[in-house]
Amino acid sequence: MMCSVNNKLVGAEPPQAEGFSCQQYVDIHCHCLYGVDDGPATKAEALALCRGLVDDCVSEVVATPHQLGRFSGCNEAAQIREAVFTLNEELKSSDIPLTVRPGGDVRVDERICHLLETDKVLTLADGGRYILLELPHEVFIDIEPLIVELSSLGVQAVISHPERHPVLAKQPKVLGKWLAQSAHLQITSASLLGEFGLMAQRAAWDFLSSGWACLVATDSHNLDTRRPRMKAAFQRISIKLGQAVARQVCIENPLRIIKQENLQTAHFIKKGKHIDEAVPTNS
Ligand SMILES: [Fe+2]
Repeated sequence: MMCSVNNKLVGAEPPQAEGFSCQQYVDIHCHCLYGVDDGPATKAEALALCRGLVDDCVSEVVATPHQLGRFSGCNEAAQIREAVFTLNEELKSSDIPLTVRPGGDVRVDERICHLLETDKVLTLADGGRYILLELPHEVFIDIEPLIVELSSLGVQAVISHPERHPVLAKQPKVLGKWLAQSAHLQITSASLLGEFGLMAQRAAWDFLSSGWACLVATDSHNLDTRRPRMKAAFQRISIKLGQAVARQVCIENPLRIIKQENLQTAHFIKKGKHIDEAVPTNS
């Protein structure tokens, strides 16, 4: 059950980051398969990234290699399922305590519904209920018709890292109508820490504190420039918004994605304001 802002957890933040214990985070957006996209090139690199996820206190991860866009024609669903099976076997033999599930980071495309029906693109955790959608970075596309079409198939869109999109970060009101059509927002853990610049950092905190974003994920690709940063993000969210919110967006809602359950939005953050009214402050 969701905690309210008055729950004692909110006021129980440790004074220092060192006081946080390792939580069991669930990462719904990660490029941990090797040889399929701009994530790890080799098995050794993939296992290193998976060790990094475990060190970052992640216990379950959805592998979301890029699908469509520049990867159109490759990384189809069957191939990703097979790669996930192989990686899970390799994790077991390497004693790395991480469970990987199939998914995709799907570039928006008018063919998506058809490709879902013909089993070419993947939903998150291969459960059929949520799909991770990536917008092109350089242009803005209003994807409301796609969100509606997906919804008619019983699939809810999860918009990946809107805080890093130059148009969405500066004009977030457009996201309101997508949210009203059953979409959800996933922000990147490293954005909250400023690792994608000030614009993304401000937008990420606005989306979280206004209750518009209900999921945080790593979108990690490697241990160098695109590291998993879940633990640090959890600590920062706990300090700024309370541990109940941090658990909601880093653990509980990601787990609901795995279990194919309804997501809980965090519109309780601003007392008395529904998500439709809590427009982020940079709008
Ligand atoms: Fe991604």
